[in-house]
Order: sequence, then structure tokens, then C-alpha cells
Amino acid sequence: MEQQGFTVWFTGLSGAGKTTLADRLEPILRERRLKVEKLDGDVIRTNLSKGLGFSKEDRDANIRRIAFVCDLLTRNGVAVITSAISPYRDVRDEARQTIGNFVEVYVRCSIPELARRDVKGLYAKALSGEIQNFTGVSDPYEEPLNPEVVVDSETEDVEESLQKVVTRLEELGYLPVSALASR
Ligand code: ADX
Repeated sequence: MEQQGFTVWFTGLSGAGKTTLADRLEPILRERRLKVEKLDGDVIRTNLSKGLGFSKEDRDANIRRIAFVCDLLTRNGVAVITSAISPYRDVRDEARQTIGNFVEVYVRCSIPELARRDVKGLYAKALSGEIQNFTGVSDPYEEPLNPEVVVDSETEDVEESLQKVVTRLEELGYLPVSALASR
């Protein structure tokens, strides 16, 4: 049977762990014989969305472009994994409507914990005002109201969060359960 495409849409603040989870999920989906494509927010901003900034208009444009590509791939039976902050609920919901087979994963983490990690050094700059309009500090992040999965990188380790996503994909019928995967 032809593979059913779907999009795993990670959303959450910068540094919450979206890319880490996306990178870990990719080989799991491949092991289950799915065709996989990954669209990472930071990578998209170096090509497809090069030149866009962080105003609401530019973020919306960025997310709409990502959703457009996700839709094309999903329609063609690909398992798509995407990880951009995607801070605005209405544009995420628009992506959900367009794509259809949409699995929204909210990667939650508090600002104090993100500021403590500060992997890219951006929270220190955002909190001091050196960077403006920084999501979660000086720009909005609208939490999903009904995501398919919520993971919490503050209280869970990567394995736990990853397992939640995999289990949900199995429950939704997108992922063959591993015992059947080698048939
Ligand atoms: S989105 O809002 O359009 O979805 P996207 O995920 O593509 O954002 O890019 C976010 C990344 O851009 C962050 O991880 C961070 O490295 C960088 N960045 C630079 N300036 C900002 C800002 N003002 N707000 C959020 N992220 C920023």
C-alpha cells in the first residue's frame, strides 16, 4: 500500500529542543520504511526564507512557505518533519487546514530554563534588550490549544519526549508499529 503522507509540526520557543527532537525522529521514521523530509527552521531561513526578518509579517510569510512545501510533500506520501518557532496560532492552524494530515507537537520549556541553557547566547541579548522582538521575551508566543502532543524539555529527557511523539504517531495510524515494520 502507498505510504500515507503526514507532517509532524514542531512548535515552541528557540532552544526548547525542536531541532533535537526532529533530528532524532528522522531515523526512526526511516527505519519504519517511510520516505522522510525534514524542514528545519534555521536551515529554511538560509535558503527558502533568506532575507526574511522577525516582524509578524515576515514570520507569517516564513511559516506559510514552510507549510506550502509541507503540503506538497505530504500529498506525495512523504513523512515531513518541520521545526520552526511558528509563534502564531492562526498561521499554524492555517497550515493544519492546508496540510490535513497534521501532527502538532508543542515543545514546552520555561523562559528561566531557556535563559539558563542559552545555547545560542540569544536569551542574554534578548533579556538585556540588545536583540528586540525576541520570541517569548519581547515578542509573542501563542501556545497551541489542542496539539496532538505536548512534550516538556524541562521535565523530560529526550528519550521520553521522543517516545511520546512516536507513540502518538502510532495511535494516529501514521506509523506502523515496530513489530510489523520489517514485514
Ligand atoms: S519563526 O518565528 O519564523 O517561526 P524561526 O524558527 O524561523 O522563527 O527562526 C527562529 C530562530 O531565529 C531562533 O532559533 C533564533 O536562532 C533566531 N532568531 C533571531 N532573532 C530572533 C527573534 N527576534 N525571535 C526569535 N528567534 C530569533
